[in-house]
Amino acid sequence: MLSHAENERITRTGAGTPMGNAFRRYWLPAFLSRELPENDGAPLRVKLLGEDLVAFRDTTGAIGLVDAFCPHRRAPMFFGRNEECGLRCVYHGWKFDKDGTCVDMPSEPPDSLFKTKVTIASYPVWEGGGIAWAYLGPRELQPPYPDYEFCRAPDTHRFVSKTFQACNYLQALEGGLDSSHATIMHNMNIGDRGFLRDYDSLVPQIDVERTPYGYNYTGIRSLGDKQWVRLYHYIMPVTQIRGRIQDPTIPDLMPTINGHFWVPMDDENVCTYNWMYAYDEARPVTPEYAAFVEQYTGRGPDDFDPKHPYRLKQTLANDYEIDRAVQKTKTFTGIRGVNTQDVALQEGMGPIVDRSQEHLGTTDRAIIVLRQLLLEAASDVEAGKTPRGVDSADYQRVRALDHIIPQELDWQVALKDERLARF
Ligand code: FES
Ligand SMILES: [Fe+2]
Repeated sequence: MLSHAENERITRTGAGTPMGNAFRRYWLPAFLSRELPENDGAPLRVKLLGEDLVAFRDTTGAIGLVDAFCPHRRAPMFFGRNEECGLRCVYHGWKFDKDGTCVDMPSEPPDSLFKTKVTIASYPVWEGGGIAWAYLGPRELQPPYPDYEFCRAPDTHRFVSKTFQACNYLQALEGGLDSSHATIMHNMNIGDRGFLRDYDSLVPQIDVERTPYGYNYTGIRSLGDKQWVRLYHYIMPVTQIRGRIQDPTIPDLMPTINGHFWVPMDDENVCTYNWMYAYDEARPVTPEYAAFVEQYTGRGPDDFDPKHPYRLKQTLANDYEIDRAVQKTKTFTGIRGVNTQDVALQEGMGPIVDRSQEHLGTTDRAIIVLRQLLLEAASDVEAGKTPRGVDSADYQRVRALDHIIPQELDWQVALKDERLARF
């Protein structure tokens, strides 16, 4: 559990808050590159760490990310004209380039120097892995660009999607890093443990090891003469990298590395990025395979609200369309879609869960360390130090594991090369 004060400190990421200052030391996913498909196309509204922003792809293809409101009289820049390397406010025509410089001010006399004195707040953007990443922190402290293997994998071998969730980022992040719920809540066939049905104890031996980028988490389960080795990484502040679960009962699963980013839009909304890449170079991620995975997880074309491209139809308002008959006879939750089950539980806790009311058990270790690391980052930034995980060199070679190997092998030796990035 956390005290009420700690809970406030860890969940609030707006400008000027301790955790907000820590988050502003990292590159964060701001939106998908494909949301700005063409140069000089329509701008995009972006909400990040409680800030209202507008993104546009200029004439050269570079992205600008600026304050959502014009510095003149605060008109909405979203309605602006994206033309000739700048976004022009349609109220009085002031125009700003991607760096926030005012390049035209037609409402002032031609010899006026006023335009040299006015800028619009803007943030640097870097594109990688099909994602536009933004850095909202002090310019002089801008860290190296993100360097995940996911970003370096060929476009043909990668897929990324996103979903909006109506809850604080930490509920979603904790849900993702909490592996102990997976075999319980996500059980899709109660009474049958699938390929694990032949084994008595499935309680894994768990180890959480702090690293320069966050932590790695190992869960080793004994399966008779074999062992099931799962290793995932938490990379600060909002990333998980995990393997594709080994489950022969789900046909056609490709060897992929998967992950999420859980990015605060504001304190009560989080954008969840869902990504995977195939590490067998001979087997690209086809659109059909990506569609199969998205459908299975609850993000098929029919799962989204037609009015909101990233919001699910199943919401708290309709109890996520829980089917009590299915819950009695078939699946543990009675809720359709594996990730929708996560969303239902995380949103159902309320916008910001009160962690002073919790009772944490032994399997909550990863959650406890996660909170320690986030609070440590806030304190480090307050003390003028660089928080953990800012330097992408610290995590650029990591890769997750999900392997079943003979019991007698030392997995650290047997899987030594498997856990290193090759793209
Ligand atoms: S409010 Fe934007 S130019 Fe006047
Ligand atoms: Fe889950």
